[in-house]
Amino acid sequence: MLPLPPLAGVADAELGTALPELLGPVPGPRGQQWVDLLARHECPGITARRARRAESSGVGQDPVVWERAVGSNVWDPDGNRFVDLGGGFGVACAGHANPSVVAAAHEQLDRLVHGLGDAYPARVRIELAAALAELTPGDLQQVIFASSGSEAVEAALKTAVLSTGRSGILAFEGGYHGMSLGVLSASHYREGFRAPFDGLLGGYAQWLPFGATQEQLREFLAAQDELPAAILVEPIQGRGGNRCAPAGWLGGLRSLCDEFGLLLIFDEIFTGFGRAGSLFQSGSAEVDSVVPDLLCLGKGMSSGFPISACIGTAEVMAGWGMSRGEAIHTSTFLGHPVAARPRWRCSSCSPRGGCWSEARSLASAWARASKRWWRVTPAASARCVAAARCVASACSLLVTPSCCAGGCCSVATSCCRRVCAGRCSASPRR
Ligand SMILES: Cc1ncc(COP(=O)(O)O)c(C=O)c1O
Repeated sequence: MLPLPPLAGVADAELGTALPELLGPVPGPRGQQWVDLLARHECPGITARRARRAESSGVGQDPVVWERAVGSNVWDPDGNRFVDLGGGFGVACAGHANPSVVAAAHEQLDRLVHGLGDAYPARVRIELAAALAELTPGDLQQVIFASSGSEAVEAALKTAVLSTGRSGILAFEGGYHGMSLGVLSASHYREGFRAPFDGLLGGYAQWLPFGATQEQLREFLAAQDELPAAILVEPIQGRGGNRCAPAGWLGGLRSLCDEFGLLLIFDEIFTGFGRAGSLFQSGSAEVDSVVPDLLCLGKGMSSGFPISACIGTAEVMAGWGMSRGEAIHTSTFLGHPVAARPRWRCSSCSPRGGCWSEARSLASAWARASKRWWRVTPAASARCVAAARCVASACSLLVTPSCCAGGCCSVATSCCRRVCAGRCSASPRR
């Protein structure tokens, strides 16, 4: 075995950058009790559990019950400490329970907890819409808020239909856009997610290989009786295997859309808000500055609260026409005030702040070192130790999107933001 790299000063349980610490078997006795209760009261199709479903599911381990999380660290009810290499499914881009996020939520709780969907807009929702328009590239200016990523993609699909008057969608093999009935038809990943519900699905999408050549794409379009309304694509496929688009491919999609009058929809629910090393893939150097017509965001946007958004150009959004009182698209919790509350109280932690470049360096170091470790220590626990130590110890290599989508950026950003938030907590900014 390679010796573990030495720890540098940032490893610290309070900041959420500590190494894993297991006090006993996982799950321990307390965790096991909670899993037993879960087994009685949650639909069996949701959380995989060993003891009760071993024969049918083949699941080798009961889940870790999360009790507390800070930065990159998670604790279970038995006090075992883990490193969350999944970045809270890509949500904890600022680390779990980032102090800026928690403080902003507390302030909002004291002021306004519930807004009224489309009827009476909460001030924070307006602020967030304006902030997103400023942060996102190009002319993306108008927002439809929602609560989950699936709903944001649905809003984009509805927009595409209204804007073009057509209803087909071209999506890609391995693509994942959510589990709601509205988007299951567009998600190619996985057949088993769709098959039981086939009778309820719209079947409006067709798929080509991720990275399909221009010839394949043109051939496909030429064969359609009616052109699709839009191309829906993840710039980096997340759930489908952390697959980056081939160089220049997204630019090729942009040109095709322009030529044939299709909308280009980027689903950046997974890659947005620093998950892949830049704030968004849209407009970044990684994708040759391609800007979509509609951009779907979720997950890391809130750093922990359920909120998502579809943001588009004013021209495309004009397809909806003016609301005449009873909106044709809304939801009760649309743009929820606590989730919408702007979260960055210190300028270095803001989406344009200095943390990001620090995080990119850490992420790169993490990725390089963890690759080395994965080869020699396949056990997950060893990966965690190696990864955490590398995050803590090395920070000088270049980042690439392909190494980041797997979670290293989440871990690294959470480390950086925690450290940064600790440094900056003396001078909070509203
Ligand atoms: C790219 C992408 N789109 C959409 C979704 C669906 O988001 P949600 O689970 O919030 O509905 C996900 C979730 O993992 C995702 O990664």
